[in-house]
Amino acid sequence: MKGLILSGGKGTRLRPITHTSAKQLVPVANKPVLFFGIEAMADAGITEVGIIIAPETGGEIREACGDGSQFGVTITYIEQDEPLGLAHAVLTAEPFLGDSPFVMYLGDNLLQGGIEDLVKAFEEGAPDALILLTEVDDPQSYGIAALDEDGRVVKLVEKPKDPPSNLALVGVYLFTPLIHDAARAIKPSPRGELEITDAIQWLVDTGRRVDPHVVVGWWKDTGRLADMLEANRLILDVIEPRIDGELIDSTVEGRVIVEPGAVLENTTVRGPAVIAAGAKLSDAYIGPYTAIGRDCVITNSEVEHSILLTGSKVLHLEGRMESSLLGRNATIDRSPRQPRAYRFMIGDNSDVGIL
Ligand code: TTP
Repeated sequence: MKGLILSGGKGTRLRPITHTSAKQLVPVANKPVLFFGIEAMADAGITEVGIIIAPETGGEIREACGDGSQFGVTITYIEQDEPLGLAHAVLTAEPFLGDSPFVMYLGDNLLQGGIEDLVKAFEEGAPDALILLTEVDDPQSYGIAALDEDGRVVKLVEKPKDPPSNLALVGVYLFTPLIHDAARAIKPSPRGELEITDAIQWLVDTGRRVDPHVVVGWWKDTGRLADMLEANRLILDVIEPRIDGELIDSTVEGRVIVEPGAVLENTTVRGPAVIAAGAKLSDAYIGPYTAIGRDCVITNSEVEHSILLTGSKVLHLEGRMESSLLGRNATIDRSPRQPRAYRFMIGDNSDVGIL
């Protein structure tokens, strides 16, 4: 069994962060989303992992994941020239996958509980494909599966107006090499992509067996800011607290990790929260569900339910910052200049809420 992680794509829904960086490297509880997928593979005993990368962000992903030894796997990077769909990514990976069955994992997805049970179910049941499903409240927004009375998948529909069920496709799939034939047989969708749902539908239509597996724990697609913050919340909820940094006249309550080399002065942290090495916090309040990256500076400010990437700064805010994502080296500061006014230098597609 091999592993295929899709870490290309455009990431339009997470602009402007994705103008300069891969969305799969945005940290959740200070760990890149992508690492959770690689670790899930390793935990399931999969050691040969292929990662689909895009020409623009591939370099950064290679640098972060290396040869895979830090995870106990061997990584092969596979460049996809253009993000022409999930089934196109499968075809691009065919030389790596060969005739091996494989787990496909979307690199911006998080699945609680890992994939060990799924791999076992796939190996024992020996279907032609196994897809993961989860119950959702708004099936109109997802790829939805219809099952027959025997529980077999009979139809997959993308964002249906009239949903046949509330079972949405989760971004983890198990395939036999038949999926390559399927991906070759289908045509691009109206949005110009080779859709994995169409490829799976082809398997169903040609009489192949596609088994569903309904996920018990939570699953998150971190492709949008709200989901990224929600994933951060879910992971922070289960961290093991540990205070290795320096606390000067500071209070830390609840589940909190303070990495070695972080310095907190006259600061209160109410967990769950994580503060990375090199962060300097003074006269600050850090509220629940906050992840502060390496070398961040927070002075005389309150921050809650937010993700701060490496080197970002929040200085002298009067109000509380919440539900925010700050990119690398972004600064929010109070300007001493007159006239007193908001002054911004903001990248394309940014989103700023003011009091
Ligand atoms: P999506 O989130 O569906 O697509 P996207 O990354 O282009 O994002 P957006 O919709 O915001 O523009 O992709 C799911 C995962 O699969 C993600 O990790 C990117 C990856 N992917 C590829 O590797 N190749 C592709 O051709 C596509 C479409 C996605």
